[in-house]
Amino acid sequence: MALKVLGIETSCDETAVGVVEDGRRLLSNVVSSQVELHAPYGGVVPEVASRQHIRDMAPALDKALADSGIDLSDIDVVAATYGPGLAGSLITGLNTAKALSLSLGKPMVGVNHLEGHIYASWLARGDEDHPEESPGFPLACLVASGGHTDLILMEGHGVYRLVGRTRDDAAGEAFDKAARILGLGFPGGPEIQKASQGHDGTEFSPLPRAWMRDTLDFSFSGVKTALLHLAQREGLYPGDPEAEKTTELQEKVDRVVGEMAANFQEAVVEVMVVKALEMARRYKARGIVLGGGVTANARLREEINRASTLPVIIPPPVLCTDNGAMIAACAYFQFDRGEEFGLDLDIDPALPLG
Ligand code: KG4
Ligand code: ZN
Repeated sequence: MALKVLGIETSCDETAVGVVEDGRRLLSNVVSSQVELHAPYGGVVPEVASRQHIRDMAPALDKALADSGIDLSDIDVVAATYGPGLAGSLITGLNTAKALSLSLGKPMVGVNHLEGHIYASWLARGDEDHPEESPGFPLACLVASGGHTDLILMEGHGVYRLVGRTRDDAAGEAFDKAARILGLGFPGGPEIQKASQGHDGTEFSPLPRAWMRDTLDFSFSGVKTALLHLAQREGLYPGDPEAEKTTELQEKVDRVVGEMAANFQEAVVEVMVVKALEMARRYKARGIVLGGGVTANARLREEINRASTLPVIIPPPVLCTDNGAMIAACAYFQFDRGEEFGLDLDIDPALPLG
């Protein structure tokens, strides 16, 4: 009998519920995004996020069940993210899972959000073709999101070693801040990607890459500050409200913004690709797995596929950003290896992996 897992994700600003069979078959994936609510602030406002999760949770749950075509009573395991993330946001998802587990009499699994991002790659592939068989362990995983830029060695299901991490801004945070500097919208990653289209960034000299000597750690605060200085030098920031908005001026601004966005994107992508490949080499990985919102980035996907001689596994973009299906997929493997969680499980905003 196939095991059906309901996965709930509320670690940040998406209220997400997914249903997955046997950790691989996606039956439904509903994501209620709060992007428009937070956009005016240029970032996620924790209090606003937690309030909105309360409103969106039940409708998302209803829709995920309806889309999956199965009844709540047919769910075998209920799972939710319990960290890392925003405390006020995590509470809604975990408590919903507890209530469902209690009322259905079914087990509950607590999932680490970062581990969930890794398991999105099990969902993305066909039934017979999953990373533990092809290409096999160990896998070099790059998890890059709004809060994390981690290089994690996955030696088997549930066996992780953190071998690199950002020492300051996460890659997604850097994209979001860069977008703000360039007067683009929120979240910044997709905006930078869009503005970069048709540009190669070579109108300006390359922004600095922080190689941090031979560690596998990252630093993205320098490139962000360098972009700010470049934008100021070019008179782009904070913008000249007095300037007459002629078509000619607007075209110039669009071109300059596009070039700066592309220049920034190249800098961040290059460091992530080089470090992920170096990690795979050092630890003799058999494949590279990408996960997290930033890995939806088209240039990153293109560049790592071009540069790697190892198999590269990246979920489709909708499964890179936060979703409930990845939580359900991950929970299946945790349940399978006998991990148990009591109903007294607490959230852990700083939950580590490996
Ligand atoms: O994994 P995620 O959805 O949420 C967190 O766990 O943080 O990641 C969100 C981050 C945001 O910073 C967003 O700007 C970035 O992922 N992002 C992207 C792209 N799509 C989302 N960054 C670069 N390129 C993209 N296409
Ligand atoms: Zn995430």
